[in-house]
Amino acid sequence: MHDSQAPAALPFTPVRVGPLTLRNRFIKAGANEGMTPQGLPTQALVRHHRELAAGGVGMTTVAYAAVADDGLTFSHQLSIRPEQVPHLRVLTDAVHREGAAACLQITHAGSFTTMRHAGSRAPGSASSGLNAFGMLHGVYFQRAMREADMARVAGQFAAAARLAREAGFDAVEIHMGHGYLLNQFLSPLSNRRRDAFGGGVENRTRFPAAVLRQVKDAVGAGMAVCCKLSVSDGVPGGNQPEDAAVTARILEAEGADLLTLSGGRNVESPWALFGSPMPTAQMKAVAPSAVARFGITMLEKRTPPDLAFRELYFLEASRVVRQAVRMPLAYIGGVKSLDNVERLMEEGFDCIALARALIHDPALVANWRSGAVKQSACDSCNGCVARIYDPAGVSCVHGPGNDPALTRMVALQ
Ligand SMILES: Cc1cc2nc3c(=O)[nH]c(=O)nc-3n(C[C@H](O)[C@H](O)[C@H](O)COP(=O)(O)O)c2cc1C
Repeated sequence: MHDSQAPAALPFTPVRVGPLTLRNRFIKAGANEGMTPQGLPTQALVRHHRELAAGGVGMTTVAYAAVADDGLTFSHQLSIRPEQVPHLRVLTDAVHREGAAACLQITHAGSFTTMRHAGSRAPGSASSGLNAFGMLHGVYFQRAMREADMARVAGQFAAAARLAREAGFDAVEIHMGHGYLLNQFLSPLSNRRRDAFGGGVENRTRFPAAVLRQVKDAVGAGMAVCCKLSVSDGVPGGNQPEDAAVTARILEAEGADLLTLSGGRNVESPWALFGSPMPTAQMKAVAPSAVARFGITMLEKRTPPDLAFRELYFLEASRVVRQAVRMPLAYIGGVKSLDNVERLMEEGFDCIALARALIHDPALVANWRSGAVKQSACDSCNGCVARIYDPAGVSCVHGPGNDPALTRMVALQ
């Protein structure tokens, strides 16, 4: 994908992602904005993504839309329904006016949920048993999905992608990482099935690949379909980069337009996802119950004591996937400097996805381009992660914060 431009300019050159041409290589990674208090897009969400687009990214990813209500992790999360289309259209129009593309991350929580749905059974997952995360929220068990359940959920992903297209999104990103439903199938930490959907990594990839196929069929050739894939679960017994490479090859063959590489699991290894310890004191302050606070104490005990943030913490694992496929890949994980962006381009990554550095400074790309900034001042403290629960939505803890009034106003007034 490299062209003949000087390496310094390459990150700022256009790139093809399936049917899309992004104006440059920078993507705002999906990061739960905490700006959908009633599950509806708000003016805060619109402003957040408009600022990122104005700040220079090629594409901004709206995080974390559940494809069905029983796929929600939190009650204040976006779940994509027809009535949201006009609100989301306000957002995509605003992003397009600033010259960027808009992507919607679509997901299903599986067993990673805090919600007890009235009258419903235990949440579906790859395998049945005790629900390690749900338990902290009164959701004690999970059940193994049957093929009919998988077909229903694949259809929900396809329907969600169609709604995203109707709302003006240029791309969808199917969430296959971090311990959500599709990752519960991919990872041997959660998939203990003995049928065609369990066992070796090819089998574990079967359901996520089927979801990708249905989404591709549903949206047709005009929309990019991306997948977020964990390159490593970050704990013994979990997926290793070699497993991710096999999955990546299958997703490439199924026609994925871009893989955004990430890693770690929300329950077993959140520190691996972020490359630095979680802000447990802040998390405890907003935890909904004593049991949830106990869970956070357990997390403190399991976090490697010598964990120190280093830039590009997923580089070695992501390289294994880079060598396995020819398709476009977005690197993610601890990108803070333009020097490292250029290094990633030299390593053959096509795009750079960033979350925390852009939460700290939504204009980072423009500032890198103008030379005003070389190194992001984000210190990877992860304080922004606890702000998922803030009534004003996610912001950098070192900055002024958001206007809480905007999270009380739906996008389309
Ligand atoms: C506040 C916050 C919320 C996040 N929420 C999501 C999410 O909804 N979906 C997702 O795939 N990743 C989520 N992430 C993870 C990021 O996409 C990314 O993988 C991670 O922050 C590492 O990238 P970074 O070093 O550029 O921050 C979140 C990250 C942050 C900081």
